[in-house]
Amino acid sequence: MNRLRFLTAGESHGPALTAILEGMPAGLPLAADVIGVDLARRQGGYGRGARMQIETDTARILGGVMNGQTTGGPVSLYITNKDWESKWRDRDIAPMTVPRPGHADLTGAIKYGYGDLRLALERASARETAARVAVGAVCKQLLGAFGIQVQGYVCAIGAVDGDFDDMPYEERFAAAEQSDVRCPDPAAGERMRAAIRQAKIDKDTLGGVFEVVALGLPPGLGSHVHYDRRLGGRLVGALCSIQAVKGAEIGPAFENARQRGTQVHDPIVIGTGDTALHRASNRAGGLEGGITTGAPLVVRGAMKPISTTLTPIQSVDLAAGAPAGAEYERSDFCAVPAAVVVGEAMAAFVLADALLEKLGGDSIAEMRPRFEALRRGRLDELAMDDAPWRFGYEG
Ligand SMILES: Cc1cc2nc3c(=O)[nH]c(=O)nc-3n(C[C@H](O)[C@H](O)[C@H](O)COP(=O)(O)O)c2cc1C
Repeated sequence: MNRLRFLTAGESHGPALTAILEGMPAGLPLAADVIGVDLARRQGGYGRGARMQIETDTARILGGVMNGQTTGGPVSLYITNKDWESKWRDRDIAPMTVPRPGHADLTGAIKYGYGDLRLALERASARETAARVAVGAVCKQLLGAFGIQVQGYVCAIGAVDGDFDDMPYEERFAAAEQSDVRCPDPAAGERMRAAIRQAKIDKDTLGGVFEVVALGLPPGLGSHVHYDRRLGGRLVGALCSIQAVKGAEIGPAFENARQRGTQVHDPIVIGTGDTALHRASNRAGGLEGGITTGAPLVVRGAMKPISTTLTPIQSVDLAAGAPAGAEYERSDFCAVPAAVVVGEAMAAFVLADALLEKLGGDSIAEMRPRFEALRRGRLDELAMDDAPWRFGYEG
């Protein structure tokens, strides 16, 4: 089944984060600076806290790459936490006794029997997502070798929605990278900034909605035959594994649920000037039956507002056994622009896994001819020998 696996280790204020990605084929060009690009994108964004000014994340590759190419062995990645060197090393830190509602402080402490809530915070913290982004950058590199691009942008922050439905995906990606709230609509971006600024003044926080899109996917990744092979479930699960992401959907799923079937399902049509079959629209978000259609794959994530607020939320001091306001830790006011990059990483991991599952092979050289055959949609492989068309997406 799964061809790719990864693990991360490390605490928010520990010396470093590490990740091991197992299952990458041999022969993929890989350099640390490629990973650094996404690490820098994760660190940016209007509304982040002071921590991001301290860290300048770079990844070291400690294994799985020789002479600039993957070997097929586990890829080992290492990211230093500068904050540990400068502030936390050799320091006695007062125990944290008042849990923040919405964080893992209380649930983590009850589960593991911690006397100091800080132990839960240290691993629950989204600092861990730096390691995921590094893994995702490697997965993107694999997908990129087959012309597949995974990128995202912010759709909404708080109650402010972006409006860019008519903008092609490449333009959305480019516009979002010019925006410090990572929104392709500049006017909405201004309102998002204002909303974050106001939340900060009000000693409060914001969440939002982001979208991750994969372009260039071949039809046929994933499967309809079993629950754990359906790509929709794998993608939604991967997005909801991100800290503070509480909902995910394929395409406009919740909007589709309000419509009639004839308004939702994408008509199948024979292409013009070609014999390819394609979809006249893409309200399905690129998946039918848990299998890629070849249309852009669109997955959206809903991030709740940050749970560390300057206005204390009602809680209990576990040491005193008395009501108390939740403790404040240095924190982001809004991290949706950063969550986009984490969403890209998780989607890229699932899609790279699905691509490897489909193609098999231990090296890029073995995968490439199989990919070309898949792209051409060979009729003999599709068991419809006399059909006059090929399967694909005419974008
Ligand atoms: C990129 C990113 C940055 C985050 N930054 C913060 C933060 O600064 N402060 C905070 O309280 N939560 C932050 N979070 C959310 C918490 O990590 C998350 O709420 C917490 O681990 C509890 O998990 P849960 O919300 O999934 O239940 C961030 C999440 C992401 C994805």
